[in-house]
Amino acid sequence: MERQEALELRREYFMPCVQYFYKDPPLFVRGDMQYLYDERGKKYLDFFAGVSVMNCGHSNPFITERVAAQLGRLQHLTNVYLTEPVLRLAARLAQVLPGGPASALSGAASRERPGLSNSFFCNSGSEANEGALLLARLVTGKRKFIALNTGLHGRTYLAMAVTGIPMWRTDPFLPGDFYFAGSAEEVIAALEKDGDIAALICEPVQGNGGVRPLPPDFFEKTAGALKSRGALLIVDEVQTGFARTGRMFAVEHYGVIPDIMTMSKALGNGIPIAAFASSRELALRFTRPSASTLGGNPVSASAALAVLDYIEKEDLCARAGELGAYLRSRLDSLASLFPVIREVRGKGLMLGAEIAPDRNSPAGDDAPGAALTDRILEELKERGIILGKNGLGRNVLAFQPPLVINRGDIDFLIENLEEVLRRIL
Ligand SMILES: Cc1ncc(COP(=O)(O)O)c(C=O)c1O
Repeated sequence: MERQEALELRREYFMPCVQYFYKDPPLFVRGDMQYLYDERGKKYLDFFAGVSVMNCGHSNPFITERVAAQLGRLQHLTNVYLTEPVLRLAARLAQVLPGGPASALSGAASRERPGLSNSFFCNSGSEANEGALLLARLVTGKRKFIALNTGLHGRTYLAMAVTGIPMWRTDPFLPGDFYFAGSAEEVIAALEKDGDIAALICEPVQGNGGVRPLPPDFFEKTAGALKSRGALLIVDEVQTGFARTGRMFAVEHYGVIPDIMTMSKALGNGIPIAAFASSRELALRFTRPSASTLGGNPVSASAALAVLDYIEKEDLCARAGELGAYLRSRLDSLASLFPVIREVRGKGLMLGAEIAPDRNSPAGDDAPGAALTDRILEELKERGIILGKNGLGRNVLAFQPPLVINRGDIDFLIENLEEVLRRIL
């Protein structure tokens, strides 16, 4: 297929709500670890990983072999039947989830909340968040939620209702009485005002909100108010999970064990799978029926098990931490050369560079930044680099590559980004 035909098919048969990056988008036909190839044979360095999904690299042979073997053995039943991979996956996750015996937070369990050990498997980040919010309602008997202004949690009804980014609040009939906060103080104020709050939901590093890590004391500050009001903490690790930020989960940077945690994206490295997890104590109270036809089926569970093995085998947490620090130092140097980079932020290999042509313009006045961000993306694509963008003003360059990149890849990116900035500014 030629890209012209692809664009025509898309125009003819897609819903127009699905937009694409680039004026002349490549038609990708092959992936190999951190590299992508288009229909004309051109090679690209992928620095977005399908939005933080391909942490272990495209078509990673270690994972594809295990998935293919499972496909040839047993492809699907559903979770009302016993199958082995999903049970092994649940047990394996219980080891590495926050507070689990192999987690960096294992010692924290007794001090704070109990470790997360029980999982419910489904297919997407939206669905995991929808389930987490449902669980919070069931166990607290309360209806409302607090979420953060610049958070994103998905496309399903409740997940969209707790999404703060205006562009992703598509449904005109979302409930109007949930709370959105911009700080720990506003979370506490909402909890003090309203006794009907089931949970606070937040991403430890907001992805679509513009790669914004929560302040270091955010969880510490809100913990007391949540506990005294009987509200739960739901942490959305859909984008931050599985070694992306230099830790297995980003909450480890904050030393906090959530009541409920959600995950998807990198768990399957491109095979759809998601889950929400809680402590055993909380999970035992989820007795009303729930099931997911495809959730954690043998093929997706096998992919996730292979992902966890690969992360451990290659020590991707350490790799993301080291390479993330190197990328950050190179981006900081660029920012000191080019004032158009207003701020570099993030953790591990989840970094963002906010683009503001007028460094003195108020944050949020982003239209010129958005145009420039698109221009940078387009020029980098021509040079064989795929970068992401996000942020409320669509003016944040997003650096979220497969964690299997190397220093040479980072140097290649930075050299090209510098040349592009010199050319267009
Ligand atoms: C933090 C976060 N939560 C939830 C979602 C929704 O996930 P999905 O698109 O798999 O439904 C996303 C998607 O980008 C996300 O970044």
